Amino acid sequence: MGGMHILIVGASGHVGTLLAETLSASHHVSGLLRREPEETVAHAPIVVPDWVDHPEKVAEALRGQNSGHGPVDAVIAALGGWYVDGPMLERGLQSFDSDWESHLRAHFAACQVSTALAGARGQDSTGSPAGGGSPGRGPAAGRLTHLALNGVASIEACVGSGAISVFGAAQEMLIRVAAAESEAVNFRELKILAPVAGDDRNDLTGGVETVSICAVAAAVVRILAHPTAEQTVTSIHAF
Ligand SMILES: NC(=O)c1ccc[n+]([C@@H]2O[C@H](COP(=O)([O-])OP(=O)(O)OC[C@H]3O[C@@H](n4cnc5c(N)ncnc54)[C@H](OP(=O)(O)O)[C@@H]3O)[C@@H](O)[C@H]2O)c1
Repeated sequence: MGGMHILIVGASGHVGTLLAETLSASHHVSGLLRREPEETVAHAPIVVPDWVDHPEKVAEALRGQNSGHGPVDAVIAALGGWYVDGPMLERGLQSFDSDWESHLRAHFAACQVSTALAGARGQDSTGSPAGGGSPGRGPAAGRLTHLALNGVASIEACVGSGAISVFGAAQEMLIRVAAAESEAVNFRELKILAPVAGDDRNDLTGGVETVSICAVAAAVVRILAHPTAEQTVTSIHAF
C-alpha cells in the first residue's frame, strides 16, 4: 500500500508520539498540537491552540504548513490520558468536568476535524476543486478514515479511573453514531485492551502484560488500509 497522509490528533501524548515515530517510516505524518513541541518530533507539527473549540481551523493550518503532501487520508485520535486516583464521586464535579473536556469533548471535536478535512479532500491547496485524488500517493480518492483510540476503561468499571470509564464507554457510542450518520468519513474505533509498553504511568506490578507500539501500529495500518472490511469497533490485546 502506498504512503498515506495521516494526521495524529493528540500527537504530544504517549501513544501519539510513538505512533508518529513508527508510522512516519512509511507514511507522511502530521501532528495536531495545542502548543509548539519542545523537542524534535517525528511528525510535521500543526499547531492550533484552540482546535477543540475551532476544529474548522485545522484544514486551513494544514493547507498553510503542509501543502506538498496532499490532503489528509486518515486521522488518528490519540486523545485522553490516564490516572489512578480516588473514587470518582469523591473526586468531585470539577474533576469530572476536566475529564469530560480531555476525553469525550476532545474526541467530539476530533470527529469534527475529520468531517472538515473530508470536505477539504475534494479541493487542492488553493481551496479549488482538485478533480479527485493525488496521483502517486496513498488511497487519496474516497472517504477519509477517522480512527479513535480507546482503552480497557471503556469496557470495565476501572476503580480510581472512573470518569475515564464513563467517557470511554460514551466515546464508543460517539464513534458508532458518527459512523452511522456520516457519508464522508469512515469512523472507526480501536480499543487497546492492555497498557502500551513504555508508558511509566501504568502500574505493571503483578505481571500485567503490555502491548507493543508495533502491534498497535500494525492494527492501525490494517484498519486504515481496509476500513470498510472492519467492524466499527476493533480490539487488540496484550501480546
Ligand atoms: N498509554 C497507554 O498505555 C494506553 C493503553 C491503552 C489505550 N490507550 C489509549 O490511547 C489514547 C491516548 O492515550 P495516551 O496514553 O497517549 O494519552 P496521553 O499521553 O495522556 O496524551 C493525551 C493527549 O491528549 C491531549 N489532550 C489532553 N487533554 C486535552 C484537551 N482538553 N483538549 C485537547 N487535547 C487534549 C494531550 O495534548 P496536550 O499535550 O496538548 O495536553 C495529549 O496529546 C487514549 O485513547 C487511550 O485510551 C493508551
